[in-house]
Amino acid sequence: MIRTEVIRVDPASLAKFDRPVPRYTSYPTAPQFHPIAQDLLIEKLHAFDRTEKLLSIYLHIPFCKSMCLFCGCSVVLNRQPERQERYVRHLIQEIEKTARYFSKKRAVSQLHLGGGTPTSLTEEQFEILMARLHECFDFTEEAEISIEIDPRTVFEDEGTKLTVLRRLGFNRVSFGVQDLDPAVQEAVKRRQTEEMTVITYRRARDLGFSGINIDLIYGLPLQTPASFSKTAEKLLALKPDRIAFYSYAKVPWLKPHQKAISDSDLPSTEDKFRIYTEAREKFMDGGYLAIGMDHFALEGDSIANAYREKKLTRNFQGYTVQLADDMLGFGLTSIGFLESSFFQNVKALEDYQAKIGNGEMPVSRGFSLSEEDIRRRFVIQTLMCHFELDKFEFFRCFGLDFDVHFSQEKERLKLLKREGLIEETQEKILPTPLGRLFIRIVASVFDAYLGTGQFSRAV
Ligand SMILES: C[S@@+](CC[C@H](N)C(=O)[O-])C[C@H]1O[C@@H](n2cnc3c(N)ncnc32)[C@H](O)[C@@H]1O
Ligand code: SF4
Repeated sequence: MIRTEVIRVDPASLAKFDRPVPRYTSYPTAPQFHPIAQDLLIEKLHAFDRTEKLLSIYLHIPFCKSMCLFCGCSVVLNRQPERQERYVRHLIQEIEKTARYFSKKRAVSQLHLGGGTPTSLTEEQFEILMARLHECFDFTEEAEISIEIDPRTVFEDEGTKLTVLRRLGFNRVSFGVQDLDPAVQEAVKRRQTEEMTVITYRRARDLGFSGINIDLIYGLPLQTPASFSKTAEKLLALKPDRIAFYSYAKVPWLKPHQKAISDSDLPSTEDKFRIYTEAREKFMDGGYLAIGMDHFALEGDSIANAYREKKLTRNFQGYTVQLADDMLGFGLTSIGFLESSFFQNVKALEDYQAKIGNGEMPVSRGFSLSEEDIRRRFVIQTLMCHFELDKFEFFRCFGLDFDVHFSQEKERLKLLKREGLIEETQEKILPTPLGRLFIRIVASVFDAYLGTGQFSRAV
């Protein structure tokens, strides 16, 4: 079981480790993907029925009515209902076409709708989409069916859409909140009153959703330690099961709209660290277990239990407890993983629809892992999820002596030891409490592609 002592962290340590480093929702990371043809995906789909391993499904709904200036997600700005209707038709065609390659032998243990804003879909669109998914796949009884919700899109209807989602089998929800301070909201053009957040949250509770998560971001314009402390206290009073507390990922080379946020409005590095450390303390004092740097789970929540029992897993949506070996991704920009290969769909809406219209798979990029990639993926995943690495387990899985195989990494591991991020024994690599906080830096030692992509910073 993981040692779960409270990890306090001072701003000086944060400053020291504030380096650009991947989040390792995948290994290799998406910048390593290269153009691929649909044949590779079709080949994998033909082989799909050879196992009965569980399956995850991700659906991307890219639409948002307005753009939050900080946003780093794959978004299509849209106010035309017919554009969305057309997308849903194509999405269903993609699901049906894919499902024709296999039987229902492999059950779905996890379905996640992400965005953009999945709740921009109408109730009828949800009904049709879920009906088609159930026709194409069998779900396990305890399947986790989750959705990202922008409270602004489900507030006005007095709970109708939330009720429909619950009836359709959704059991987990994640609310985008970011910050409750109206001045911060104005500076990022995301106007979402406290009332909208609180009432939507309460409705979700009353409807019996569990694993309720709230997304927050630190490092946004006009945030101060004092202002954010109020946001943290108000949200803690709601007792969400989970809190995702992200560092503002500033990636203007990918998301030019972020340039509309003036640098002079951003908190200083010192203040950004204080916002993080002070809120972190508040969450932990409020009964939350810190999982790595940016995830917090209330004691008793399934993520907290899985963390303690070393059963956590990780995919593109972050930490999860429902282990599935393969993932099918549907919709614009979505990423799937089948038998050691990643597949990413095209990024432009018109391309996506044109390909489906032509009877093609809308896949455009991907990556087939080599034996060595698979070994490194195992090490990185294990560190990111279990916060320790058993060298004998590596030997058992791959028949290779860990220290010999990673002899080139020895110097960098020594540096991590000197920096106080890990302890190393003959059997294990053990991140220290500080190293668990900066687990991405520890994991990056085993990333053979590090240095060939641009990433946001660790803090
Ligand atoms: C797809 S959105 C969630 C659903 C919905 N669109 C909303 O905003 O409420 C996913 C989450 O990503 C996070 N996010 C988006 N852009 C980010 C950025 N640049 N840095 C850090 N987190 C970001 C936000 O916390 C957001 O809630
Ligand atoms: S944060 Fe959510 S609502 Fe805002 S633009 Fe991004 S995806 Fe859309």
